[in-house]
Amino acid sequence: MLQRRHILGLEEMTPEEIQFVLDTADSMKEILSRPIKKVPALRGRTVCTLFYEPSTRTRSSFELAAKILSADTISITPSTSSVVKGESFRDTLLTLQAMGTDLFVIRHQCSGAPLFASKIVSVPVINAGDGMHEHPTQGLLDLLTLRAVKGRLSGLKVTIVGDIAHSRVARSNIWGFTKMGASVRLVGPPTLIPLGLEATGAKVYDRLEPALEGADVVYVLRIQRERMESGLLPSLREYTRLYGITPERLAKLTPADVVVMHPGPMNRGVEISPEVADAGYCVVTEQVANGVALRMALLYLLLGGADGGKE
Ligand code: CP
Repeated sequence: MLQRRHILGLEEMTPEEIQFVLDTADSMKEILSRPIKKVPALRGRTVCTLFYEPSTRTRSSFELAAKILSADTISITPSTSSVVKGESFRDTLLTLQAMGTDLFVIRHQCSGAPLFASKIVSVPVINAGDGMHEHPTQGLLDLLTLRAVKGRLSGLKVTIVGDIAHSRVARSNIWGFTKMGASVRLVGPPTLIPLGLEATGAKVYDRLEPALEGADVVYVLRIQRERMESGLLPSLREYTRLYGITPERLAKLTPADVVVMHPGPMNRGVEISPEVADAGYCVVTEQVANGVALRMALLYLLLGGADGGKE
């Protein structure tokens, strides 16, 4: 069972809860395989997506997930809302709740904004990515994808490559993978690896080759170009030379059945070569597809859809 009202991070979720969400998402995949993808489970419910940062995958998959379950959706973009007139985050939340929002999906540049929202509103809140803290629905869809591809999570060796310091995806995945019994290695330029991550159970490397050796899964993070300006990386070319994931590196260091993952959007030719991005072992498209099922599962569970029933 899901023991909570809000999904704010994988750090606080138990392995049993994660397993339950993944199993529910698997049952949602059956709905997505139908010619008419529509069930009445959340008819009469309203889901509000409130995104203070850009998004393609997370926002559209939440909206699609809500529509498939027959919920109504409100989509708020701060740049075209009363936020530009100075309305506070708190007042925006209370305004949208007063209109009948039953669940908020929030992306915000500030770590902790969804937690703050959960204390303001009386309905469930899902964190769709907050600052450098967590992106729990990305972590869950990654677990769902990997479990489907590999048939298990426990015992897998997962190497996460890139800008660990600024990545909310990395943080959610470190919690998610370790809780589900995988071992996690982290590798990237020392300027992009925060101190103290060993406390999570992950092993930290600064050279790519030993971190890739024998990895079942290579999880490639997006290099955020704005980090260059802050002096944390010498150049993109240097990053690609030292940490770029190429077919040659994978062939030399990883098993034949290696799986490559990326949360998107990808910088082809920087952190991942175009050949790897388009290879059969790169499951980016499966991750995106599973994002819809996973978000359907969360909306269904948090809005008490079990009583509504699936067609
Ligand atoms: N992975 C991810 O969060 O993508 P978007 O920014 O497009 O939502």
